[in-house]
Amino acid sequence: MIWQKTKLHLHPGFEHQADPFLSTSSLVNRTFIMTHASSRIAGVRSVALSVPDLQATADFFTKIWGLELTDNQGGIQYFKGTGSDAYLISLRQSQGPAKLIDVTLRARSLQAIQDIQQHLGEHGKVISPTAPVSEPGGGVACTISDKVGRIYKLVFADVQHPASSDQKDRPIRLAHVVLNSDEIAITQKFYEDVFDFSLSDRTKIMAFMRCNSDHHSIAFGDTDNNALNHIAFLVPDLDSVMRGGGRLKDAGFPIAWGPGRHGPGNNTFNYFVGPNDIVVEYTSEVEQIDDNYVARFPSDWTWPPGRIDQWGISPMPHPTLKEAQKKVFFETPT
Ligand SMILES: [Fe+2]
Repeated sequence: MIWQKTKLHLHPGFEHQADPFLSTSSLVNRTFIMTHASSRIAGVRSVALSVPDLQATADFFTKIWGLELTDNQGGIQYFKGTGSDAYLISLRQSQGPAKLIDVTLRARSLQAIQDIQQHLGEHGKVISPTAPVSEPGGGVACTISDKVGRIYKLVFADVQHPASSDQKDRPIRLAHVVLNSDEIAITQKFYEDVFDFSLSDRTKIMAFMRCNSDHHSIAFGDTDNNALNHIAFLVPDLDSVMRGGGRLKDAGFPIAWGPGRHGPGNNTFNYFVGPNDIVVEYTSEVEQIDDNYVARFPSDWTWPPGRIDQWGISPMPHPTLKEAQKKVFFETPT
């Protein structure tokens, strides 16, 4: 952990608003910011979902999205990418609309899981204590939730297979998960205090949080609900993002936003509304940062008129995307 002096680097296409008050205040706020990787969480590993049409959603993720069905245990199907993680998505049958069962974070150590439980305090609760995992990858895990019912599985010592070499057009691993929050300052603080994440950047509508060298592994959408915003999959290169856009379009899932290159994170993107309003993103070239990175704030992250990404070639996000981003909520733990 180090204290950082501020410096201002904006990606091409951004304009810095010359508001003397905002600039001064934002510079003061940014003058001494603690930045570091999380001591407790190594990364986001996987997402568990329940869906009303298990087979159709499984077909989407294997035949169109590019994952591989790797296991089926007790009615839960597991899908891996080409990277080392045992799986990236699990699917089970639901009786109603699609739900988020958990977001699985990989802990750095067993001690880290204990530390997280200790720091949870009144900000959440342990749903299931640390115990061996029978799912693919194994290891040990505990499950916790925050006050509004976001559920996190914290896994440690899960088997990470040697990664097969990157395959064009196929997801390698999860890049990030974005969750909506109707109390974003509280959610951000939960991540800082409990998971030891750091704020990478804050725009008017999003808070980008990191736990490793990826610019963000989790982000929060500043909204009026606590739904899943989207799940992003890292593909090998820009060509895979673009070709994915064509493949999904041919399969009846047109690009809902993209192609483009984001500001914060500098990553390329194509977004789609998948089955059951699960929003998924292909992304590549995620900015790698270290302790020298200095968080920037809404007054820094501004766009020229009519522009919301660096390239400016994509139409604005399709209304169906915005609607879908309010549809998938966490399952209430039993
Ligand atoms: Fe994203």
